[in-house]
Amino acid sequence: MNAIIRQLTGLRDWVDERFPLTKWWNDHLGQYYAPKNFNFWYFFGALSLVVFGLQIVTGIWLVMSYKPDADMAFASVEYIMRDVDWGWLIRYLHSTGASAFFIVIYLHMFRALLYGSYRKPRELLWILGMLLYLSLMAEAFTGYLLPWGQMSFWGAQVIISLFGAIPFVGEGLSTLIRGDYVVSDITLNRFFSLHVVALPLALVGLVFFHIIALHEVGSNNPDGIEIKKHKDANGKPLDGIPFHPYYTLKDSVGIVVFLMLFSVAVFFAPEMGGYFLEANNFIPADSMKTPEHIAPVWYFTPFYSILRANTVNFLWLDAKLWGVIFMGMGVMILFLLPWLDRSPVKSIRYRGVLYKSALGIFVVSFLILGYLGVLPVTEMRTAVAQICTVLYFLFFLLMPIYTKLDKTKPVPDRVTM
Ligand code: HEM
Repeated sequence: MNAIIRQLTGLRDWVDERFPLTKWWNDHLGQYYAPKNFNFWYFFGALSLVVFGLQIVTGIWLVMSYKPDADMAFASVEYIMRDVDWGWLIRYLHSTGASAFFIVIYLHMFRALLYGSYRKPRELLWILGMLLYLSLMAEAFTGYLLPWGQMSFWGAQVIISLFGAIPFVGEGLSTLIRGDYVVSDITLNRFFSLHVVALPLALVGLVFFHIIALHEVGSNNPDGIEIKKHKDANGKPLDGIPFHPYYTLKDSVGIVVFLMLFSVAVFFAPEMGGYFLEANNFIPADSMKTPEHIAPVWYFTPFYSILRANTVNFLWLDAKLWGVIFMGMGVMILFLLPWLDRSPVKSIRYRGVLYKSALGIFVVSFLILGYLGVLPVTEMRTAVAQICTVLYFLFFLLMPIYTKLDKTKPVPDRVTM
């Protein structure tokens, strides 16, 4: 045993002389101090990493049998589901993984709203996170076209044609995205290339920068206190604990619980009542038959609702273009959060009733918009979507005012447990 340990230590030293292995381990795990009061909400970063890994691995296996060809794509997915050994599992892990990714990412982002994690000095970390979110949306959108089902086809058709509403450049832009005048085999090929090569590369790079930026400034925590302010004689934060072994172990528990819930979805409800995989997508794409009701997958529906909520022509622009503008702004406005929030405190624990109410209203509006986005429009639903759209934007636009007026509580000097 001793001989094996001696040999492994020798190997490590050999590597260390040529590559900063131990240094990296210490900088990012063994000697990386994280606040000791992390709670439930701090599981979702690690879970995002796990789901990302799962998507990459299952994606690689899917590509082994998938055919990116308009004549063969649908049948190749059926072949994966029926004939490839464990193909059904690989596909369901990947399709359920897409929804799981957005669930953990939305919770991860919500945590930032709870504890002001986007505030100084984490603005860049937040911006990198937002770039990840945009890339993830593009990844999901391009991936959804690949099974070449009715919803793949018509969903892409509707979303790409939205770009056509942009004056002057719109039509050209839609054609550029499609690579053709209609959604076709060419579109499928370029979406395949983006989905399996370009966007995963961008995501890997962004995740890397996201973690580097995080480790430069250090994690925030449920109290919104900078732990670097109080250090011991060795320069270690008094309110921090080494990430490894404390959080590697704690996160493992979160990962096991997550995998249990994830398995329930994969094995018992992979379609999740049409929310994860829509019924229409089990019908091959048909350019001559438009489905009665076209809706994107649930993770896009809040923004789809904002798009549909605009029904009036205003100034010299038509309603459709306003819809596209508002939908785009609905996502982009999140980038500005670090500068809209003027509260003297970060964490919701020490904020007053104004921020708490605003956040509550925002969350409810976002959920209602999400729900309405999966349903066909009616006059009543459009009216509700319009109210929720206004509330959604007011959360951001009024933030500089209500966060300043809010009656905050005194923040303790050290973290609380
Ligand atoms: C592939 C996607 C992503 C991965 C793998 C990822 C990973 C992580 C990890 C591992 C952490 C540290 C653990 C934790 O605080 O939970 C973290 C922190 C953070 N992430 Fe992400 N993240 C992703 C996307 C995002 C997005 C979309 C946003 C926001 C738009 C975001 C914003 C943040 C912020 C603000 C922190 C610091 C939180 C704090 O210290 O309180 N991340 N991320």
